[in-house]
Order: sequence, then C-alpha cells, then structure tokens
Amino acid sequence: MITQTIKKAGLAAVLAGTFLAGNTLFAQKELTVDMSETIAPIQPTMYGIFFEDINFAADGGLYAEMIKNRSFEFTISMMGWSQPNSDRHSYNNESGYALPVKYFEGEGNLNFLRVQIKNAKGYELHNEGFRGMGIKEGDTYRFTFDAKQMEGAVSAVKAELLDEEGNTIAEASIPVSGSEWANYKAEIVPNKTVMKGSLKLTFEGTGELGLDMISLFPTDTWNGRENGLRKDLVQLLYDLDPGFLRFPGGCIVEGRTLARRYQWKKTVGPVDERPSLVNRWNTEFDHRLTPDYYQSFGLGFFEYFQLSEDLGAEPLPILSCGIACQFNTGELVPMDELDSYVQDALDLIEFANGSTDTPWGKVRADMGHPEPFNMKYIGVGNEQWGPEYIERYKVFNEAIAEKYPEIIIVSGSGPFPDGDYFEYGMKELKKIGAEIIDEHYYRSPEWFRENATRYYSYDRNGPKIFAGEYAAQSVAIASPDNKNNWETALSEAAFMTGLERNAEVVQLTSYAPLMAHAEGWQWTPDMIWFNNLESYGTPNYYVQKLYSTNKGTDLISVTQDGENLVGQEELYASATLDSEANEVVVKVVNTSSEAQEIQLNFEGKRLKSKGSIIVLKEADLTQENSFESTQEIAPVTEELKVKKDVATYEVSAYSLNIIRIPLK
Ligand code: AHR
Repeated sequence: MITQTIKKAGLAAVLAGTFLAGNTLFAQKELTVDMSETIAPIQPTMYGIFFEDINFAADGGLYAEMIKNRSFEFTISMMGWSQPNSDRHSYNNESGYALPVKYFEGEGNLNFLRVQIKNAKGYELHNEGFRGMGIKEGDTYRFTFDAKQMEGAVSAVKAELLDEEGNTIAEASIPVSGSEWANYKAEIVPNKTVMKGSLKLTFEGTGELGLDMISLFPTDTWNGRENGLRKDLVQLLYDLDPGFLRFPGGCIVEGRTLARRYQWKKTVGPVDERPSLVNRWNTEFDHRLTPDYYQSFGLGFFEYFQLSEDLGAEPLPILSCGIACQFNTGELVPMDELDSYVQDALDLIEFANGSTDTPWGKVRADMGHPEPFNMKYIGVGNEQWGPEYIERYKVFNEAIAEKYPEIIIVSGSGPFPDGDYFEYGMKELKKIGAEIIDEHYYRSPEWFRENATRYYSYDRNGPKIFAGEYAAQSVAIASPDNKNNWETALSEAAFMTGLERNAEVVQLTSYAPLMAHAEGWQWTPDMIWFNNLESYGTPNYYVQKLYSTNKGTDLISVTQDGENLVGQEELYASATLDSEANEVVVKVVNTSSEAQEIQLNFEGKRLKSKGSIIVLKEADLTQENSFESTQEIAPVTEELKVKKDVATYEVSAYSLNIIRIPLK
C-alpha cells in the first residue's frame, strides 16, 4: 500500500536520505515529473482488445446462443443432441427417432433434422448446451426454431428447460402447422437458476416434422439485440475503454488449411444462412481436446463491427494473406491465385465503409447499418513468416494502398519477438515502408520485466508498432499449467511502462488471449474467465484496465537523476498528461518484495493539493482471482496529498500505482 505517512521504524533512515524497508535498504527515490514538454501524443488506440474465438470465446461465450449445434452442421451432425428414449441407429424405435437430412450440397445451412414421432409421450430430443446452459431465474429466454410438417400431424413442439437433475424449470408449448418452413417463437421464464441446465423437446401428435435453427437466447443481451452478446462479458470489455478491437484472431484467421481459414464473407448476411466451420482450436492441443468446438459465425464480421462501435473502439480486422497456419500445414495459395484473397480485403473495406449503393455497402445496410463503420485499419496475415509472407503482403499492400490510400495496413513480424523469423520480417517490412507492424510475445514474467527498455532502440521514423498479442506465461507458452497470477500481471505492468514511455513508436497494444470458458478452454493464461453464469477479470485484466483508463493524452518524462525508471531497484515508471481531465498521471510499478519510499517532484505546471492513487497490489505473487473470489486482486483508490507540487509516499511491495493529480 502507498501511504503518505513515513513508517516510524524508517523515519531515521528517511531523514538520512535512505528508506529502510524489510531487510533491504533502498535509498529514498526522488523522481522528477517534467510537465513542461510533451514527448509524444498517446494514441487513443494505445490500449485495445484482441478477440479470438479460442477457449469458447465466441460460441459458448460472448455469443449468447445457448444451443450447441443449432442447425445440425457439425461434422457429427447430432453432436450436442441426444434422444434418451431412442436408439437413433434403429428405425424400429418405438417412441420415434430423428435423423439429420441434407437440404442441398454446397455451402450454407445444409442440414435439417427430420424427426419421426411414433409415440408422442415417449420421444424426447435434448440439447446439452455448451458444457450445460446457464439459466437465470426470472430472466426471459427466447426460444425459436424453424419447422415444417412432413408427414402425419405433429401439431406442437413443447420446449422445457431442465435443471441438473432433469426437473422442468420453464416450459412452453408452440403449435406448428403447414408443410412450408416457418419460424416459431416462444418466450419462457425459468423459476430457478442453474449452471448446467439443458433443453428438452417433446411433441404432440405423430408423424414427421422437419426442424432447423433451434435456438435459445436470453433476451437480456448487450443492448438487447436478438442475435446478441452476453451482457456480463461485453460489460467487462466496455469497462476496459478499449482503443481498438482486433478480430477475429489469431491463428483462427489463417486456418490449419486454407480451406478452413476465416472467410469474412461467409459470416455476414442472414444468420441462418451462414455456414458453420470446425474451430481450428478444437483438437489443436492434446492436453485440451474439444472436438465439439465449432464456429457458427452467428458472431460474424457485422457483429464485430457493431461491437467495436458499442465499445467506442476502432475496428481492426485481420485477414488471411493466403498462408495457412505455419505451425500446421503452412499451405500456400499460389501467387497467381492470390487475387480472390486480395479482393476479400478490398471488399471488406467496402463492406465497412462503402456507401449503400456499393454491393458490399448494401449488404451492411441490409443488415441494419446504413452508416459506415469508419474502419481505418486492416491487418494482412497473422503470425506469418519468411519470404512467402513478404511476397504476398506486397500484393495486398499495393492493391489496398491504390484503392484505399487512407486505410492503414497492419503487417506481422511472425510469432516470436526475436530470432530469425522476426529479424527477417522486420527488415523486409521496413524496406517496403510498412506503416504498422504487429509483434507477439508470449514469454516468461522475467522477460517482461527485463524488456521494459525494448522499444528504446526502435527507429522513431520507422514503422509504428502494434504489440498485438502478449501475456506473461508462468510456466511455458500455452502450457495448461499457466496461471493468471499476480507475478504475471505485475510483470506485464512493469513492461507496459516501457510501452507507454515509447508511445512515439508503440501505438496499439493488446493482451492475448482475451477470454476463456472455465470448462471449454484450450489455452491459458487468459485475461477474462467465465462459466455459464459468471465471469471475472484476472489480475492481468485489472492491469490492462488501469493502463487503458488512465492512459492520458501526452507522454511526459518521469526520471530519477535524469534516467528513466526501467527496473533500477525494481522500480518502473511512466507519466502522461491527461488534457481532457486536466490531470497529470504517473504510473509506478514496484516489483520488489519490499516497499519503497518515493518523492515525486512535479515541474513545469502547478498542481492542486489533492490527488488520488489507484493501487493494485498483492503480497503473494502466486495469488489469482477466481469465481469464488473475483476481487482478491482488484484496484483500491486512496487519497494523495500534494504540497507545493511535491508528493511523498510509500510504494507497496509488488504493486502497480496510478497517481492522478489535477492541474491548477
Ligand atoms: O493467442 C493465442 C494464439 O497465439 C493466437 O491465435 C496466435 O496468433 C498466437 O500464436
């Protein structure tokens, strides 16, 4: 904790110019904050969000749909569904049976379910949801489905929500009629809250019924949208006040093969016509197999743009550059077949920004957003490396620059922050005059603490940097044993002072991955964890939030004896002016196990006598937040007194401190 009182035990030492903390004798530090000169503007995009559909982040997570495999498009088309009273392999089943049927070959929503009801009292069709369904007592849920009568007279579909024991907690009976496909709807209100509920369908009458797009959404989604997003999760994102939203990944952009890359055009338009795709993370890691992980694309590019708008964040889509994930197949589209990939990028710009009389602008307008999304950035390729990337990137670069010179293109330096791939990529991208280069680092906490000076060596006139994916790994990259503990978060906080101090070069940054389902994850650590009902921010989340909501507008210097604080005696610092709030903001990180005494001397402007300190601290570096204790590590705000532009206080061991003082 930062206190303004000098500990009695340390008084003599402070007076003598040193501060006795625990067993370590730290000299009292006098820091000078020079408010007279702006070093660089802090870009509004400085702290943003990286979203990827990994760890059930979209289907089963942010996307509020509760039915898994709602349109029977999974490779095993009954995955997620069960017929407890039926043997689906036996046509002589007494109660009835359901079999998926293909409407047509090609792309889109190919399958529907043909349900034969022989005994209306006996046949049941269940959906298990995404590791169950989180259902809240008193909330309203919208149940919808498409149906047509095929034979006989099945006259109604009864929907029930069940608790873990199979008891009914909500129900509705919906009459169906006619041999043409029609959409049916009912709203149901459960009388109990359950973490792992399920859906049960039964039928009235006998005969055959076609069923498709069986869907269940809470009505209380973010902004109340029908095809909406989980409110608690968007709220956590909103609270980050992100400068940008990068989507849809990550390696998911690239696909394990080119055929399975992310193709944005297949994710827009009517939701029930979007084809599903196996999620590339479903069997990527032997330690976390999730064969039931698919992308329904109900959360598609339109919804990502809409989310960006809701969050007040710049949309930053990343597209395939014609190379499948080089950790998988590395499949390459031949150079003379690259045109359609480039066209996808040009069309995306038209979709986002084009007038409503352009073909893709019209698609956007038809989806309910005639106004442009004002997209400014586009990314080409994710973690690509080698000459194959540079060769392809150049083609995109030229085509986009020619047609849309105002669009800023984000290129990538590969998966690692150093080494041959990185050096080669950076060298070649600089030659081309790349505007913004994406760097990724999944490294140890030590690496983060030691790299607070990383960007000092970067050319101020060279490409700008997008620190697009980073997270301290407590064990090893993507190890299932990695933890979102305080050591990782504190180390990231120390490193981030270096991002901020180099705001001339570093203009966008984002932690990755963003979120994970407690039972559906593949990769850890992750910034936000959720289950079917609850969610919480990790300590890493609070670090991101504190930086983002206190970024200020102008970088200024904070020094000790003329030197930046980049880890000397385990202290790190950065400072900005916030011209909107008319305040000075100083961030101090202490990674030492001992408290340290600080005197901040503010120069160049006059300060008011009262400010505040937001403190994020924890004595135990292995501590984490959890569903049971979401605020174990969370910010606390204290008052700070300032006397004649000087503030003195004790910086707690293992702490991030955000000091805000109003200017006179
Ligand atoms: O964030 C998880 C993965 O890490 C991303 O998909 C990829 O870009 C990186 O390797």
